[in-house]
Amino acid sequence: MVTRRSFIKSTAAVGGFFLPDFSFEYKKTDEHINQMKALAAGKEVHELVKNEAYWQQVRALFQPQTDFINLENGYFSAQPQSTLAQQLMEVNRVNTENSFFMRRSQNEALMQAKSALAQFAGLHKEEFVICRNTTEALDTVVHGYPWQAGDEVIVNKQDYYSMLAAFEQQKRRSGIKLKYAKIPQLPKTDEEVVKAFEKEITSKTKMILVTHLINLTGQVLPLNKLVEMAHGYGVEVMVDAAHSFAHVLFNIKETKADYLGTSLHKWLCCPMGLGLLYIDPKNIEKVWPLFGDDEYAANDIRKFEHWGTRPVSAMATIAKAVDFHEAIGSELKFERLFYLKNYWTSKAAEIKKVQINTPMEKSRSGAIANFSIEGLQPDKIAQRLYDEHNIFTVAINSEEVKGVRVTPHLYNNTAELDKLLEAIEHLAA
Ligand SMILES: Cc1ncc(COP(=O)(O)O)c(C=O)c1O
Repeated sequence: MVTRRSFIKSTAAVGGFFLPDFSFEYKKTDEHINQMKALAAGKEVHELVKNEAYWQQVRALFQPQTDFINLENGYFSAQPQSTLAQQLMEVNRVNTENSFFMRRSQNEALMQAKSALAQFAGLHKEEFVICRNTTEALDTVVHGYPWQAGDEVIVNKQDYYSMLAAFEQQKRRSGIKLKYAKIPQLPKTDEEVVKAFEKEITSKTKMILVTHLINLTGQVLPLNKLVEMAHGYGVEVMVDAAHSFAHVLFNIKETKADYLGTSLHKWLCCPMGLGLLYIDPKNIEKVWPLFGDDEYAANDIRKFEHWGTRPVSAMATIAKAVDFHEAIGSELKFERLFYLKNYWTSKAAEIKKVQINTPMEKSRSGAIANFSIEGLQPDKIAQRLYDEHNIFTVAINSEEVKGVRVTPHLYNNTAELDKLLEAIEHLAA
């Protein structure tokens, strides 16, 4: 991986080009990262989870809204300033070097980004490609899979709408059949969830789509158990990890999933327009790439990398985003996000007429939660939270889930959540 110093040195001198000096930005953000690390030194995860002085340092690395409280961090993540500074430098570098960069340095930038991601995700470079987002990653599989008419796929109504739309399109194109599992909203056991999918399996089932962390409610499904059950029937599993990657604690390989797609602009806090597609090597050969490729063998994952001129400056910031994530650590990041979510949900659950539509257990949730108030439409609640209390959330009005989604991020604090609680109390009264 290129270090900050070697990178600055190389970009300042490359080919004799003159580049703007962004090292000042680095110094500023490095100071915060160092303060953050100093506060964490010698402390265990459980000591840091509620250490607001530490989280204040983390907050200082973001650019949080000052006009309103942003509790809608589920759409995408803001980048910490350390990553943003790197991206600005990369944008300038590419803009200055122009096609010289594309012809001479683009591949190296891609290789460095892949190395950083491979190390972070515990994958081999032969098992994944960088793409633009979860939608592209999973659509590649949905539209590249050699479906036969009559093949069955199990989905559920809480899957992300673009994935359901992709399968609906395949239904019209290839004659596959979709079966809808009915997943419990507040399961008591993993087996309840596993059974909901298992019930729909027939001799024609080819694939199950598992949304690891459901964006509507924040519920985390028991992925490893679902894969084990499906494989027992010879059924493949495609995982939508848009919200679980770099958020909840899991290892892609350990899930034994056949296909997995995620977006790096969500919880890894990369610039927008970056995703990852993982395919178990034994499945690569049978899936057609979305964009034509005649460069690589059918079993070479790089056949999925043909997506034309790409946002190389964003790609070249992946290693820096990983650095930021690792400065906090996956475990502490998850524990803090889970703490923030349970901080407000456990209190909100006590308010009359309020219902929490997200499991409370650590194995079944992370940062995201959804609540409803008896007698009030989700749109109205979200609107009033913003208009009357300066709190930004999003209303969820889907067939199976009705409520307001609240997603704190690492830069949010308990004082902001106290304001949310006051607002909910006011609206419920
Ligand atoms: C569960 C889930 N899957 C897929 C996506 C699509 O992500 P993207 O727009 O980055 O492709 C989202 C977006 O919020 C999501 O929540």
